[in-house]
Amino acid sequence: MSAVDMRVRIGDLELRNPVMTASGTFGSGREYAEFVDLSRLGAVVTKGVSIEPWSGNESPRIAETPCGMLNSIGLQNPGVEAFCANDLAWLAAQDVPVIVNVVGHSVDEYAAVAAQLDSEPVVSALEVNISCPNVDAGGMAFGTTCAAAAEVTRAVRAETRKTLVVKLSPNVTDIAEIARAVEAEGADGVSLINTLLGMAIDTRTFAPKLARGVGGLSGPAIRPVAVRMVWEVARAVAVPVIGMGGVTCAEDAAEFMLAGAAAVAVGTANFVEPSATLSVIDGLERFCAERGIARVAELTGAAWPERGKRET
Ligand code: SIN
Repeated sequence: MSAVDMRVRIGDLELRNPVMTASGTFGSGREYAEFVDLSRLGAVVTKGVSIEPWSGNESPRIAETPCGMLNSIGLQNPGVEAFCANDLAWLAAQDVPVIVNVVGHSVDEYAAVAAQLDSEPVVSALEVNISCPNVDAGGMAFGTTCAAAAEVTRAVRAETRKTLVVKLSPNVTDIAEIARAVEAEGADGVSLINTLLGMAIDTRTFAPKLARGVGGLSGPAIRPVAVRMVWEVARAVAVPVIGMGGVTCAEDAAEFMLAGAAAVAVGTANFVEPSATLSVIDGLERFCAERGIARVAELTGAAWPERGKRET
């Protein structure tokens, strides 16, 4: 038993620690299992799952950038039926909470995936993805107005009693108003941020580096934007916030929690160091122990002005 209580709650879900994987950077965990004991994670958040199989966008769909990367994968996945038969069946034996990222081209498609997953006991929670910038229909289009975000959340809420998290887009003027809209429709939590819409051009060929032209920027380059948005959202809603965007080490995770996140997700860092999640968990525990913090949850919102400055 660790001296620091690392447990946190997201809705009805108790996690053994606040560190999870970010959707789209960890598959369903199988490819990482030789590097990471999944049972040590707070949760595995899967790649987006749609009602039918999706093949994703044309290649190239990855480009490196200073302190980050662009992707335009396009939510490639085998569809919910194959996902349940293969990935969920495998995850059932891993002793880790499973949060399934749900995607759709239409409100009805989101609702249909949620309905199917609702009967799967191994699914602990759903993360409704209204923030992917890489698809022409659905994705971010549902996450940039309060009305559309509310409509998807309402439709999914009607299909499931499982813990419901909505993943928000940073490509908006006021992310807090979107968070309030999904909270009002029954979201048990919000996760943020998904990628920032970006672009890179090859100066040798004069062509965009991604076949789709634009893609989503992730990695440490976006962390200050993400921390600012977590701060704004966590102060605007009562439900827990899962913070992400360039987390590479324990101090980064602590920064998100100090801004108001109840939990954090590690994304792009998994591509650099497959066991990044484990060093964040161990480092976060050390971070708390060294400062005499008994419960990691005490970090949440500890930087808010009303809490006062910590004596050092
Ligand atoms: C993708 O598959 O395009 C990335 C996932 C996302 O942005 O949600």
